[in-house]
Amino acid sequence: MSWLTDTLTSTLGRKVIMSLTGLFLILFLVVHLAGNLQLITDPTGEAFNVYAHTMANNPLIQVVSIGNFFFILLHIITSIMLTMKNKKARGVNYSVGGKSSTWASRNMGALGTVILIFLVVHLKGFWFKSKSGQLEMIEYGGVEYGDLYGVVNAAYSNIWYTLFYVVCMGLMAFHLSHGFQSAFQTLGLNHKKYTPIIKGVGKVFSIVIPIAFAIIPIWMFAQNA
Ligand code: HEM
Repeated sequence: MSWLTDTLTSTLGRKVIMSLTGLFLILFLVVHLAGNLQLITDPTGEAFNVYAHTMANNPLIQVVSIGNFFFILLHIITSIMLTMKNKKARGVNYSVGGKSSTWASRNMGALGTVILIFLVVHLKGFWFKSKSGQLEMIEYGGVEYGDLYGVVNAAYSNIWYTLFYVVCMGLMAFHLSHGFQSAFQTLGLNHKKYTPIIKGVGKVFSIVIPIAFAIIPIWMFAQNA
């Protein structure tokens, strides 16, 4: 197991863990967004409630979900370790400084902290309610489902809750804009032809995904207004 201890204790090993967990979380965001878009494509809530019920009862999804939480934790822990080590060594933050550094790259820790706060609020508001049996039941075709749509819809009838989501999605865009290309760079995928493509895809991804997420609360708030 010395390879594991070596990976967890070396700076490069920790950066690789940050990159791999970050890329997994990016993948999660795409799948999560695709499922959540049903909140606006079917305003009756049936499609989303049936989807949430199916996900919650699929054993494979349950395993992926545990992996997801584990990777979120690992991503946070390694980022704290890297920041502490770099501060100790250089008296500066983990992110690389210099003339070519961007605002996002210099503030990855702060942006990540905002996303963590967002996640706590988010999971408490939706996920915890769904998992702790707090959902009201609703019937479609003689079968009972938890009304998770109702919980999300009620949350987005509040202007402050809606604004909180929109602002957090804006900040997530900056975190992704640096994180996406930085992950590939750390993994050594530096190529004359492919690096500019990866950077381009990263830029588009970090704009499109947060905007698509932000449209959901804005749309639902507008429907409730
Ligand atoms: C408009 C935006 C979003 C909406 C409407 C939304 C909605 C939801 C809902 C309803 C759940 C509970 C699912 C269930 O228990 O079956 C959930 C879970 C979750 N959400 Fe979101 N979400 C949004 C954005 C995000 C973002 C941006 C992130 C990450 C930064 C995120 C991370 C998570 C995680 C980690 C879970 C737990 C997933 C699991 O059970 O494995 N969500 N979300």
